Amino acid sequence: MNYQWYPGHMTKAKRMMEENIGLIDLVIELVDARIPLSSRNPDIDELGKNKSRLILLNKSDLADASANRLWMDYFQKKGFHVLEINAKSGRGLKAIQGIVREACQEKIARDRKRGIKNRPIRAIVVGIPNVGKSTFINSFAGKACTKTGNKPGVTKGKQWIRMNKELELLDTPGILWPKFESEEVGRNLALIGSMNDEILQMTELAADLITYLLKYYRDILAERYRMEAMDDMTTPLTVLTHVCESRKCYKKGQEADYEKAASIVMEDFRSGRIGRITLELPGADGNQSEMV
Ligand code: G4P
Repeated sequence: MNYQWYPGHMTKAKRMMEENIGLIDLVIELVDARIPLSSRNPDIDELGKNKSRLILLNKSDLADASANRLWMDYFQKKGFHVLEINAKSGRGLKAIQGIVREACQEKIARDRKRGIKNRPIRAIVVGIPNVGKSTFINSFAGKACTKTGNKPGVTKGKQWIRMNKELELLDTPGILWPKFESEEVGRNLALIGSMNDEILQMTELAADLITYLLKYYRDILAERYRMEAMDDMTTPLTVLTHVCESRKCYKKGQEADYEKAASIVMEDFRSGRIGRITLELPGADGNQSEMV
């Protein structure tokens, strides 16, 4: 399949980040825990060099818990600070303040040496579209508000959200575009729903997903669709036929409606109804990524 990204305003977003990066101490990068590498843009390493770095594995509620631990380890070994979060429910957000302080230790020590006291850490939130940046900023600002008892307000004339006396966030997140370095990256982004579904062939996409699930997440797939005769379920077609029958997906004249069954499976996967699934794992050498 030929994967495409939304025609974007990439230059504008990149310029915004380039203009502001000089003011920033810390880059908070959100990635999707189900595809932590495919949902990154490697340009951020160039843009954020010499800055403290924090990677947030967002949507960790939708990803495999054991894979989340492997990815935490992977990014830590690469020298990033990293946390697993669920921006939607707020889980994991409490730990951020401590880790931000840890990530910015050098800056804090430098300020102290120069006699600068209590200058807040300034951070930017970045990530590819749909990774959860706005949800994160809203829940994080909300949390800070209840925690400190202060209303997070935009400082007059500046685009900073004051979280507390230690931390300010740039109020517009930096939008990055993913790199389509391989077909897998495109496919992974399409699977999690980060692409315009109208241009995708859902049946083909669902078939790829089912092939993967049959290999690595057989049990939860069988449970979701009550597939008792699991031994017969060896191909995406048999699974989709089963879904057509059990969910009564028929066109006129009792013809199986595979597109409908494919949409059901894709929607169940994206919303986490099939279960917690990760689509890529770090390589065995802990260095390169590989498809599971
Ligand atoms: P963006 O600014 O980076 O583009 O992303 P945004 O916050 O708009 O989030 C994109 C979608 O991801 C939203 O769903 C949001 O609710 C969901 N989301 C964000 N963080 C998490 C998370 O940690 N876990 C889960 N399960 N979902 C998360 P939506 O369907 O567009 O909106 P809604 O129906 O949830 O309101």
